[in-house]
Amino acid sequence: MCPIWPLHLIVIYLLALCPLWVICQSVPNLISNFVPNNITVHMDDTEYVNLTITGTGMQAGDIFTIETERDHVAIGEWNSTYSISEDNSDNNIWHGKVRVIGNFLGRTNLSINTIRDGAAHLVKGALPVTVIRPARVIDTIFTTSVATLVSLIFINFGCAMHWPTVKEVLKRPIGPGIGMIGQFLFMPLMSFGLGFLIFPDKPEMRLGMFFTGVSPGGGASNIWTFILGGNLNLSLAMTSISTFAAFGLMPMWLFSLGQVVFRNANIVVPYQRIGTFVVGLIVPLAIGLGMQRWTPRLAAFMVRILKGFSTALLLFIIGFAIATNLYIFELFTWQIIVAGIGIPWLGYAFGYALARILKQPHPDALAISIETGVQNTGISIFLLRYALDQPEADLTTVVPVAVAIMTPIPMTAIYIYQKIRGCIDRRNEPKKIVEDLSPVSDRVESNVVTTVDVEN
Ligand SMILES: *[C@@H]1O[C@H](CO)[C@@H](O)[C@H](O)[C@H]1NC(C)=O
Ligand SMILES: *[C@@H]1O[C@H](CO)[C@@H](O)[C@H](O)[C@H]1NC(C)=O
Repeated sequence: MCPIWPLHLIVIYLLALCPLWVICQSVPNLISNFVPNNITVHMDDTEYVNLTITGTGMQAGDIFTIETERDHVAIGEWNSTYSISEDNSDNNIWHGKVRVIGNFLGRTNLSINTIRDGAAHLVKGALPVTVIRPARVIDTIFTTSVATLVSLIFINFGCAMHWPTVKEVLKRPIGPGIGMIGQFLFMPLMSFGLGFLIFPDKPEMRLGMFFTGVSPGGGASNIWTFILGGNLNLSLAMTSISTFAAFGLMPMWLFSLGQVVFRNANIVVPYQRIGTFVVGLIVPLAIGLGMQRWTPRLAAFMVRILKGFSTALLLFIIGFAIATNLYIFELFTWQIIVAGIGIPWLGYAFGYALARILKQPHPDALAISIETGVQNTGISIFLLRYALDQPEADLTTVVPVAVAIMTPIPMTAIYIYQKIRGCIDRRNEPKKIVEDLSPVSDRVESNVVTTVDVEN
């Protein structure tokens, strides 16, 4: 027997390993290079990126595949060949083109794999993809038409406003005082605290909540106060005061607690925006007051159509807002629904409770409650747009939008309840004409009549 007999086994074994060694040698070690090196795509739109892959271990017949971290944000497709040719493997360079399709707001990374014998090898380097929402004409149309209609309704409110009552309110501003505590002390602190409870590790969402909390009361508060029979004069006085106060109090909160919520936010105080709201509020009210004086007949007519007009306008705003922002529902999570309900509903509860504790009559408490709970979400959205980059700005806008959607629910419920109770009352007392569903509008109309009489 050969003295070195096991040697041939070792030789055979090594020979058997040989092909594996060749494969090991050629394990792909590739780097991708995207031009441009990051992209922004609109939702439901596509962008093209040139791709060059270099490195060692390319093998003719292998293919490349595209992968994104989050399919629901964006996906990639080939707009070129995706297989490796002899030429590529000889020169260790490969060129291709990728089509990136934006699906939904967000950020993701796109990367390339090379597939050999069913096994995927990652190609180094990734393409950051940002998907944003394009600025749409429909949004501009919506904002402009709402602004115009709201100004028109403030002319109506001016016609319905009873100036001596407003002066009385301004002289002893207990109601506005309570409203201010709710609006500028309770709401910012509550939204700040609630933010930490709901989004412990999402500072940008907390910023969305905080910005919603610090915004002044919205124009819809007067419409709701009027429809539900609250004290309209008080409500108008409060909205004016709170919008003026926003000039000073909003920056105070934004630069103190706002910095705690989100350190690197680019906080811009929307003075011009608030200024626009002040002008959009005061000028139509003044026009309405002027009409009471100089065109009393027209003013009385404006008051008569106020109820129908306000209801129609609210339906228009809610319907249009939901229709144009349908995409936002995809972002809804239970946290966002809780945030959307929490901010306005806690505001209502706080405002009403504080007003009742301080012995305010029900119509005043109702006005204070609505003024506290209804936020000017337009201002919050504007603040977010400036404070954050896209897509974070759009992603956090979901908070004020959720608030805007949840805000009318309790008031709609009260409205329906009042209607049903009115019907039942009417049926029970058929002889008496019950019209006390709208004490304020009646009072308002009698006020106008009084004014008219005085003027004549
Ligand atoms: C991609 O490459 C083509 C030619 O190969 C060129 O025309 C095009 O401008 C390039 N695109 C970018 C984004 O560089
Ligand atoms: C690349 O995309 C363009 C535009 O959609 C299309 O016309 C072309 O046929 C595509 N080429 C390949 C190879 O897919």
